[in-house]
Amino acid sequence: MSSQVHGTQHFDKAKRATLKFSDEAMKTAQDIISHYPEGKQKSALLPILHIAQAEFGGWLSPEAMDYVADILKIKPIEVFEVASFYTMYNLKPMGKCVLEVCQTSSCWLNGAEDIVKYIEKKLNIKVGETTKDGMFSLKVAECLGSCGTAPMLQCGASYHENLTYDKVDKIIEAYRSEGKLKSYTDLDYKNTL
Ligand code: FES
Repeated sequence: MSSQVHGTQHFDKAKRATLKFSDEAMKTAQDIISHYPEGKQKSALLPILHIAQAEFGGWLSPEAMDYVADILKIKPIEVFEVASFYTMYNLKPMGKCVLEVCQTSSCWLNGAEDIVKYIEKKLNIKVGETTKDGMFSLKVAECLGSCGTAPMLQCGASYHENLTYDKVDKIIEAYRSEGKLKSYTDLDYKNTL
């Protein structure tokens, strides 16, 4: 992968050589890819990126994107273009739980800004930052398709809706006590194709 593809991030060849999906993740990836005809493997890019993000610590490093490009037999720049477009992919290290608060019309009208401010104060971070203990990152997102239950946030594969300050407290406490990386691969991809 050329340095132009990943901006200021250094591409570490030694790290790239060690990257590998777990057997279970590779089996899932191959199953997803098999749904597409030969030469059209790129169509599986979005779910494979979710798997890569879950397998490699919650973010997509230049090395991880290069690995995905190899699996799908496409160019690394094609992976980067997609990964840098969608907000659900992280291009820098993040906390184990990424709280993505929707800020679009319905959520905004129902207090999303106040929810964001409340989380910022509670976790002592700003949007785009991660807590010192590496547990939480805070992001804002555009409409997540749950407008009828605004305001809402997403964390990994889970939606938390009709948010109140009290509910936010409970959500954060539950994630903190669980202490695990939350990812989109909590979903069963076989049932989402
Ligand atoms: S506006 Fe927030 S989910 Fe649609």
